[in-house]
Amino acid sequence: MYPDLRSTFHVFRTTFYATRVIILFMTDVPPPPRLVNPQPQQEDRQDTSLRPRMLADLIGQDRVKENLAILIAAARQRGEALDHVLFYGPPGLGKTTLAHVLANEMGVNIKVTSGPAIEKAGDLAAILTNLRAGDVLFIDEVHRLGRAIEEVLYPAMEDFALDIIIGKGPSARSIRLKLPHFTVTGATTRLALLTAPLRARFGAVYRLDFYDIEAMRAIVKRAAGVLGVTIDPEGIDEIARRGRGTPRVALRLLRRVRDFAQVRFDGAINRPVAQQALDLLNVDPLGLDEMDNRVLRTIIEKYRGGPVGLSTIAASISEEPDTIMDVVEPYLLQLGFLERTSQGRLATKLAYEHLGIVYDEGAQPRLL
Ligand SMILES: Nc1ncnc2c1ncn2[C@@H]1O[C@H](COP(=O)(O)OP(=O)(O)O)[C@@H](O)[C@H]1O
Ligand SMILES: [Mg+2]
Repeated sequence: MYPDLRSTFHVFRTTFYATRVIILFMTDVPPPPRLVNPQPQQEDRQDTSLRPRMLADLIGQDRVKENLAILIAAARQRGEALDHVLFYGPPGLGKTTLAHVLANEMGVNIKVTSGPAIEKAGDLAAILTNLRAGDVLFIDEVHRLGRAIEEVLYPAMEDFALDIIIGKGPSARSIRLKLPHFTVTGATTRLALLTAPLRARFGAVYRLDFYDIEAMRAIVKRAAGVLGVTIDPEGIDEIARRGRGTPRVALRLLRRVRDFAQVRFDGAINRPVAQQALDLLNVDPLGLDEMDNRVLRTIIEKYRGGPVGLSTIAASISEEPDTIMDVVEPYLLQLGFLERTSQGRLATKLAYEHLGIVYDEGAQPRLL
């Protein structure tokens, strides 16, 4: 009789706690999780028609595309959810686009959120418990997830389980909820900031590179078609060249050149029209914009070519170090205009030449 009573009591107590936890979660997270749109770029949102929907619409990034095609085909054949996928690389190269393409190709829903938008573990729990089997959960800026949130994400990604801890101290216990098999797609501009355990949970990791000129031409051409812009191959080439190897930048330039052609001319874009428009926008023939030029000039003119620390450069031009590191530096590094050394950033001879500044070998500070 007594053991019976005890087990009844035990069941009662567990049910009580579980209910309390569920209520806690419900009251803790009343507004539905904020699923932020990771695309603050207004024009990106206006022109969703510009965003490729399927793998076949994507231009360039051939290696990534081929790998994804295999990943998708294999998962479909097995009737499973995709493995967790991580995309990294500078902004504007197609990470968000690829996450959507994955969901479209798999024919599943995509939920969109971002690292900084998930403030509490409860936010993530609410998102996770709303997923259906196969769904893609896109986490933009995944390197900015809080530690406590990551702890919840680990078992969710690995075992499709949500561990809920009830109580505190020695009486704390944990309840494990089962989750459907889903796919986390992460995007980051900073792979190095991702914690090792989180990175290890992505089954596939792909780096997006700047696009070559051919791909850039194809992207501009396709976008001009969608937008109904009259443009000749030379006009396409000019915009593609000044697009910093970045689709988002090229698409923005195309819109600005379109405005220019419409207001100053008859709307048709050729090379001279594109050149004038882009010169007016302070985008130079290699695609360097004002911020790129300011960074280079600061290093060269204020710090005699460097090496100079990132935070010093940032303070000199009143910019965020993160912006310089994410947006400006990757392209300058790619062009070979900048070097990252342990003592700071160094402008190369190529950078001097591009800016038309005399490079005085003897006057350059030497690295130790
Ligand atoms: N491979 C591509 N082909 C055509 N357009 C692309 C491609 N990659 C990106 N874009 C376009 O560039 C813009 C930026 O892409 P996005 O996925 O938002 O970049 P990220 O998330 O890496 O910052 C989008 O408008 C998208 O349509
Ligand atoms: Mg994005």
